[in-house]
Amino acid sequence: MGGSQVLQSSPSLQGKTLQKQALEVAGAFQYVLTIIFMGPFFTLLMVYLLFTPLWAFSVLYLVWLYLDWDTPNRGGRRCMWMRNWSIWKHQRDYFPIKLVKTAELPPDRNYVLSSHPHGIMANSIFCNFCTDSNNFSQLFPGLRPQLTTLAGLFCLPIYREYIMFHGLCSVSRKSLDFILSQPQLGQAVVILIGGAKEALYAVPGEHHVVLRRRKGFVRLALRHGASLVPVYSFGENDVFKLKTFAEDSWQHLCQVTFKKLMGFSPCIFWGQGLFSANSWGLLPFAVPITTVVGHPIPVPQCLSPTEEQVDHYHALYMRALEQLFEDHKESYGVPASTHLTFL
Ligand SMILES: *[C@@H]1O[C@H](CO)[C@@H](O)[C@H](O)[C@H]1NC(C)=O
Ligand SMILES: *[C@@H]1O[C@H](CO)[C@@H](O)[C@H](O)[C@H]1NC(C)=O
Repeated sequence: MGGSQVLQSSPSLQGKTLQKQALEVAGAFQYVLTIIFMGPFFTLLMVYLLFTPLWAFSVLYLVWLYLDWDTPNRGGRRCMWMRNWSIWKHQRDYFPIKLVKTAELPPDRNYVLSSHPHGIMANSIFCNFCTDSNNFSQLFPGLRPQLTTLAGLFCLPIYREYIMFHGLCSVSRKSLDFILSQPQLGQAVVILIGGAKEALYAVPGEHHVVLRRRKGFVRLALRHGASLVPVYSFGENDVFKLKTFAEDSWQHLCQVTFKKLMGFSPCIFWGQGLFSANSWGLLPFAVPITTVVGHPIPVPQCLSPTEEQVDHYHALYMRALEQLFEDHKESYGVPASTHLTFL
């Protein structure tokens, strides 16, 4: 029986009923399928329906898409009910995913939560900030977490509605400025700074952060006087295996070129099979992931920050992230000899 094989190999599943194990596997697996296939599936379906008697459905949806085009730039459309789905709690328990608070984030100001690493598909970030499974709303009362992602994803039919219901917004400047200019304080935009490029380094046991030349988030924080908060997810890189290519290989060049054109990186990754940990498949490995939210760095507001100011806060931020990593790494299974690598 597949369940017992998973049981043997995954400590997190031990001592749970077979039903709970199945729900957890389903929770973790549906996330992967949704992220990879939901967008292409509904895009093809919409095109296909155009050539069937149900064509009116596609046309109506396109009208909706046109009318609703700007919503991802205007705070999105969250649905508390979906963020509260129990499938997300099963996904959380599968790894398990934890959220650790190290400092108060008072809701009398706004925050830029810059999160690292991206991993292959940001399992822990979704769980902690797009669902309330780890009680974000109780840990940080008054904050409104809003994960941001590639603007292009909001062109994909149905998928865009699904991710917006979970509180995702576009990572465009317009969208970020909109959120941080709301009269209601306590806005917390979550940005995966390394983005798709960092996904190319999501190798188990490694901690590469693409940050040296990424300064837009510091400029954003300065423009709005929002505090910068470093966030690090230990274990996020361990849930899939990744085929990496040397920096000077043609495969790497293809990945980087594709990323420049499309915004995301094609990568070859695998997890375990659905029914056996010894085969390969798309189910992530059940490895604990812990997202640690660091201390806020206060940033003054200046409407047109100079390069010196940006560099100053960027350097402060890099030091704070490094400190966060060093302070917590050994509690979450990272050897003392491992350090962050900044790219
Ligand atoms: C979330 O679900 C719990 C029970 O699972 C319920 O008590 C709570 O009211 C729900 N919250 C929202 C916002 O729907
Ligand atoms: C979230 O809060 C509820 C109610 O306070 C508690 O029962 C539950 O154990 C908490 N969950 C986590 C993951 O801390």
